[in-house]
Amino acid sequence: MRRTLPTILLLGPNGQVGWELRRTLAPLGRLVTAARAGADETLDLLRPGEARALLERLRPDLVVNAAAYTAVDAAESEEGAARRVNAEAVAELGEAARKLDCPVVHYSTDYVFSGKGDRPWREEDPTEPLNVYGRTKLEGEKALAASGADHLVLRLAWVYGMRGSNFLLTMGKLLREREAVRVVSDQRGAPTWSRFIAEATAQILAQCRAGGGFAFGDRRGLYHLTAGGETSWHQFASLLADRWRSACRVEAVSTADYPTPARRPAYSVLDNDRLEKAFGIRLPHWREGLDLCLETPGGAA
Ligand SMILES: NC(=O)c1ccc[n+]([C@@H]2O[C@H](COP(=O)([O-])OP(=O)(O)OC[C@H]3O[C@@H](n4cnc5c(N)ncnc54)[C@H](OP(=O)(O)O)[C@@H]3O)[C@@H](O)[C@H]2O)c1
Repeated sequence: MRRTLPTILLLGPNGQVGWELRRTLAPLGRLVTAARAGADETLDLLRPGEARALLERLRPDLVVNAAAYTAVDAAESEEGAARRVNAEAVAELGEAARKLDCPVVHYSTDYVFSGKGDRPWREEDPTEPLNVYGRTKLEGEKALAASGADHLVLRLAWVYGMRGSNFLLTMGKLLREREAVRVVSDQRGAPTWSRFIAEATAQILAQCRAGGGFAFGDRRGLYHLTAGGETSWHQFASLLADRWRSACRVEAVSTADYPTPARRPAYSVLDNDRLEKAFGIRLPHWREGLDLCLETPGGAA
């Protein structure tokens, strides 16, 4: 007897991670995308009730939420919009999903932490966001957990890829156009290729198939999902300059020398042991991800 494929609703399919998820989720079910534009369904998470109505109409077997208000500096002056998308819409999604018995995969951020210290952050470590974006994302995590929906929250950090707005693409442009760039050297993290995040998400989901849909069972909850190793933005930029044989000078500056509206955590490395124990998945060292990304067609700046 042939099984019907589960319906997977992907929110934010045109973002860095969402774009890669389109490809990796496609073999797992019938993929329906939802965004403000350029998707199967129109969805604006700023509008209360839209996410709930979409879920009630489509009755998906799984929701993957890669949509978020991600403009970290703008969020400082647009707190209402950031909270609406990152927290209130996620709460709404969780409540609707619980009623429909539909599991949810959601992404969060290293910005829930203060960045103090020098030991990779574990899931159970105390949170202390330094900015509005981090606070609203933390509220979203908590709201989804409190909704009672079957869920996974995957905390990401330092995401880059060949699409969207990210450090790698920004540096590609600056290293081509400028004689010198100043890059912060006292913030540490693990640059993570968006494609690896999407691949890992699909592999997790493939392990959680149940009764024609998906169920997380006792693996429900919060996980860190980042590349291995650590570096600074300055080292990352220097390596890019090297790989691209750029003549541009990459100068190290401190966070204090480079003021931004939103404060950022200094130490943002995440510990990925919980994910490996639960799902047997661990992303490779960030340098391996970068090499693979740069070797993909279109990867050379
Ligand atoms: N980038 C990072 O370094 C990083 C680090 C840690 C965690 N994360 C988390 O990872 C997830 C994916 O991030 P990303 O880097 O892929 O983000 P992204 O490239 O900025 O994409 C976010 C997507 O959300 C959509 N969106 C924003 N507001 C919306 C609204 N009102 N209604 C519907 N859709 C809306 C955007 O749609 P439009 O195309 O219409 O603008 C965009 O496609 C997010 O949860 C983010 O918080 C990212």
